[in-house]
Amino acid sequence: MLSNLEQQPADALLALIKLHGDDPRGDKIDLGVGVYRTGQGGTPVFGAIKAAEQALIDTQTSKSYLGPEGDMGFVHGLMPYIFGSEDPTMSGRIEGMQAPGGTGAVRLAVALAKRAGVTRIWMGLPSWPNHAQILGDLGVELKTFTHATKAGLADMDALRVAIGLAEPGDAIMLHGCCHNPTGIDYSPAQWDEIALAVAEAKLLPIIDLAYQGLGHGMEEDAYGLRAVLAAVPEALVAYSCDKNFGMYRDRVGAIYVMAQDGDALNRVLSNGYALARAAWSMPPDHGGATVRIILEDPALTASWLDELGTMRARMRQVRARLAETGRAGSIDLVPLGSQNGLFSVLPLSAEQIQRLRSDHAIYMAGSGRINIAGLTAGNIDKFIADLAAVTD
Ligand code: LMR
Repeated sequence: MLSNLEQQPADALLALIKLHGDDPRGDKIDLGVGVYRTGQGGTPVFGAIKAAEQALIDTQTSKSYLGPEGDMGFVHGLMPYIFGSEDPTMSGRIEGMQAPGGTGAVRLAVALAKRAGVTRIWMGLPSWPNHAQILGDLGVELKTFTHATKAGLADMDALRVAIGLAEPGDAIMLHGCCHNPTGIDYSPAQWDEIALAVAEAKLLPIIDLAYQGLGHGMEEDAYGLRAVLAAVPEALVAYSCDKNFGMYRDRVGAIYVMAQDGDALNRVLSNGYALARAAWSMPPDHGGATVRIILEDPALTASWLDELGTMRARMRQVRARLAETGRAGSIDLVPLGSQNGLFSVLPLSAEQIQRLRSDHAIYMAGSGRINIAGLTAGNIDKFIADLAAVTD
C-alpha cells in the first residue's frame, strides 16, 4: 500500500531554511522563514524564557500526564492579553486549551468548525500557505477573496463582496495582526466595519493571532480580535507564542472558544478535547509551562514585554529605513513603512526572486515575501542595491 503514495514536494518555506544554511557565501541574507532576528542577525532565547526554564527545572517534581487541555495556567495566563484584562472570559463565554503551536491551534479550530457543520471557509489571499493546506487536509472548502490592493492597502471592497456572498454558517479566517505574508492589517475603523458585517452575515470567525505584540503593541494588536468578539455570538481563536515569546521549535500555542453561553462552551470544549486526544493526545508541556511561569511572575513578565518591545522597535526601524529609501529599482518601498510585523511582499517575478538567490545570496519565499527582521544595519544597503540591480 505504502508504495502507492506519490512523492510530495518539500514545503517550500521550510526548504528555504536548508538552502540558506547550505549556501557558503559569507554575505548571504536570510529573508525566508518567519523568525525574529536581532540587529546582529541572531535569534537568541529571551532572557525571561531562560530564567523561567531554569525555574521549571528547579521546581518541576513530575512529568506525569496532564489532560488533553494541557497546562491551564498557561492558557488562562494569556487571556487578559488576548481578550482584555477587564473581562478576559467575556463573562464565562470564553475558555481555551493548549495546542502544539499556532499550527496545532489552527488545525483544531478548523476541525472544530467542521464538526459543528461548517463546510466553507472564506479567506483573503495571499495568506500563510499552511492555512490552505490545513483546510485541504481537513476537507473544508476554501473560498477566497483578495486581501490587498496593488497600492498596498487592505482590499476592503473585495472583503465586503466576499462577506456578501458568504452564507450563514460559513466561517471566515482573519489574521488578528501582522498579516502573513503582506504585513497589511486592517485599521481599527476597518475592523469595526468587519465585525459588524461578519455578525450580520452570521459567519463564524476564526481569528489567527500569531504575532501579538510585533505590530504596534500587545493591546493595540488585539484591537481587531476584540472588536469582532464583541459583535458576534461565537468565535474561535488560534494563538501562537512562537514569535512573541521566541518559542518557535517548542511549539507553544492555544485555541480559545467563545460560545453563546457556558453550556455551549462546555460542549464545544468537549469536542476540542476529543479531537486533540485523537490527534496528539495532549500538547507538549515544556513551552507552555515556561510561558506560564513568566506570566505568573511580574518581574519576568516585565522582562518579556521589554524584550518584545525591543523587537517591535527594531522592526519599525528597518521598515522606516526601507520607506525612506523610496524606490529600489522598480520596487516602491514606501508602503513597507506602514505595514506591520515580520513580513511584507515585494512585487517580484519568480525569475527576479531566483536571481536574487543565485546571483546575490538573498533568500526569500517564492511569493516575494521578505522577513523584515532578516535585515540589519550590516546588510540592508546590500539588500537595497541588489533589489535595484534585479529590477532596474
Ligand atoms: C512563517 O510563515 O514563516 C512562519 O509562520 C513559520 C511557518 O510555520 O510557516
